[in-house]
Amino acid sequence: MAIQQELSMDLPVIDLDLFLSKPRGSEEVINECKKAADALTTYGALVLHDSRVSEQDNSTFLDLLEDYFAQPTEILKKDERPELSYQAGVTLENTEKPKCAVDEPCLRIIEKLDPAERPLDISAHSPDPKCRFFWKMSEKPPYDTQFPVLNAPNVVPQDEGLRERWTPIMEQWGKSMRTAVADLAVMTAIGLGLPAEIFRDAGKYGPHLLAPTASDLVKYGKEDTILAGFHSDLNFLTIHGRSRYPGLHIWARNTGKRIPVRIPAGNYLLVQAGKQLEHITGGLIKAGYHEVVVNEKTVSVIEARKAQFPDRPLIRISSTFFWHLSSDYDLAPIPELAARAQIIREEQARLGKEEEQSVYEPVKVGQQVQNELKHIALMA
Ligand SMILES: [Fe+2]
Repeated sequence: MAIQQELSMDLPVIDLDLFLSKPRGSEEVINECKKAADALTTYGALVLHDSRVSEQDNSTFLDLLEDYFAQPTEILKKDERPELSYQAGVTLENTEKPKCAVDEPCLRIIEKLDPAERPLDISAHSPDPKCRFFWKMSEKPPYDTQFPVLNAPNVVPQDEGLRERWTPIMEQWGKSMRTAVADLAVMTAIGLGLPAEIFRDAGKYGPHLLAPTASDLVKYGKEDTILAGFHSDLNFLTIHGRSRYPGLHIWARNTGKRIPVRIPAGNYLLVQAGKQLEHITGGLIKAGYHEVVVNEKTVSVIEARKAQFPDRPLIRISSTFFWHLSSDYDLAPIPELAARAQIIREEQARLGKEEEQSVYEPVKVGQQVQNELKHIALMA
């Protein structure tokens, strides 16, 4: 597809209900799948409608995580697993660095943006002031994996009150997100003209993670505070439920515009393309850049929640889920997609929008993940 010069600032909404309820080969379904693939190609993101996902489950999940992260640091520290590169349990604030701060191609992307459309300055920003919990939502591979660290067991919090609620709520919400994003992987494959199950199969034993992040808005609630600096995700597809606080900005490929994300209320989720999808499509779909900051709207929601829920912790939870390809999968561009990517690059160059030329060397997914983790300081 051709990337238009002027794009709508609203992300396309993809209807998973339609995909699941109509015959696979019907024109409606094929068109919806193409719309999904085009949205990921053009924006690196889309809004997904799935009526199986309940708003109440999202709310229960956000309450649990607010309670968890409201605990004192000494308690949270017990759930840290640095020896597993923090791939299970909690990561406390100021550990993870936004890769872009030290990454040349990424800094060039920022430089090319109009100053008014740039992310908040990450050059002086050391690690992100956000905490995170990694809860694995993976199926154990029936073979010996070369990457056992990425497939280590889950950590359940120590606190009695939380312990009981923890696993059922994490599993319930995690499964909703996993099902939705895996179905979208099928839609994307169909939309790209590939065998329907190619991506879902490649991710069958992926180390998928329910990975909520938490930002303490008492400490970090001032306008223009960076909660997560400009970056793109290292996995295949990332899916988010609606956060209680706005603040996520994305950059659609080639628009040069910063887009504040608005997810409609109800059964809507946000999906973003990650590096593994970029790699396997030879750059036809690019991983989407984004940041989480305290903006004007975040500040007004903080004030509103303070008044409405004075007893609740003032913590911004983002219900992120990272869907991965299996660690032992051989990642390499699909030739037909790489050829289409090349055509788009040439088209862009003619329009004077030269893109960074990335090289997508064949690599095991587990190796690609480990390389990225070193970059963001989670792995020594
Ligand atoms: Fe991210």
